[in-house]
Amino acid sequence: MILVTGAAGQLGSDLVAALVGLHGREAVLATDLRTCDQMARSGADMATLDVTDPDAVQTMIQDGAFEQVYHLAGILSARGEKQPDLCWTVNVDGLKNVLNAVRGTKTRVFWPSSIAVFGPDTQRHRTPQVTVTNPTTMYGVAKASGEMMCDYYARKYGVDVRSVRYPGIISYGVPPGGGTTDFAVDMFVQAVKNGQYTCFVRESTRLPMMYGPDAVKAALDLMAAAPSSISVRTSYNLTAFSFSAEELAAAIESRVPGFVCEYEPDFRQAIADTWPEVIDDSRAREDWGWHPDYDITAMVNDMLSHLVDPANSHV
Ligand code: SER
Repeated sequence: MILVTGAAGQLGSDLVAALVGLHGREAVLATDLRTCDQMARSGADMATLDVTDPDAVQTMIQDGAFEQVYHLAGILSARGEKQPDLCWTVNVDGLKNVLNAVRGTKTRVFWPSSIAVFGPDTQRHRTPQVTVTNPTTMYGVAKASGEMMCDYYARKYGVDVRSVRYPGIISYGVPPGGGTTDFAVDMFVQAVKNGQYTCFVRESTRLPMMYGPDAVKAALDLMAAAPSSISVRTSYNLTAFSFSAEELAAAIESRVPGFVCEYEPDFRQAIADTWPEVIDDSRAREDWGWHPDYDITAMVNDMLSHLVDPANSHV
């Protein structure tokens, strides 16, 4: 059995569908604070789970005899700045509850970290795997702390926990909520709907990004890798491509003629300004064979084909 927390979210909904495709409906238990239509569509078993409740997490994981847990429940960066206490509780205490619940078992855990672990002191171009982090958002502080906790639980208790530092994830299913890289998804949706988008970061803002199917593939590949191939127990740098907001707008405009993007940066600009522009993910490529399937052109074409005609679904 495989447990997924945060299954109603942007990544969780696509990952659950992929896991059901690989292992069958009975093999996957999709959980979130509330169940929803998107979770139901995958056909997986569903349950409610509040990851901040240690007893609930312990009971679920003990009772379930799970081989794998994909612990995705989390609060993203922009919402984290509005609700820093909640961000810490969900992102750090929630992770600790999961790690404690699997201690002494053979359960393998996947937990997403983020490019947000990096901060203004970090080298922004080809950011190395091991480097100064010093994040300045609560989301980044929580992810950096979580990474160290994963490494600690792996060394001290032998917990087989694996993690990647996701860049911005672009996908057409469940929209992201409360993130800084959400502008990339919003831009697609508004281009198709209205032919116009007002972007909340300035045009020159360049960030590492990845298409949703590659984000799912990374989680599945890392979890399938032999334990001996995993040399990083904090979290692996991971990327597919980087673009500026205006480069994405131009790529969309070439497929959606007449699309107009305007720029009105808000508080999320300050968050984006502290993150890397381009990440070096060579350790993930060497250790467990990471490589993205989608470059920016393939991503733009696929996104637009699904948004214009939702029948073209992967799932
Ligand atoms: N996509 C996330 C965010 O913008 C970063 O990991 O918050």
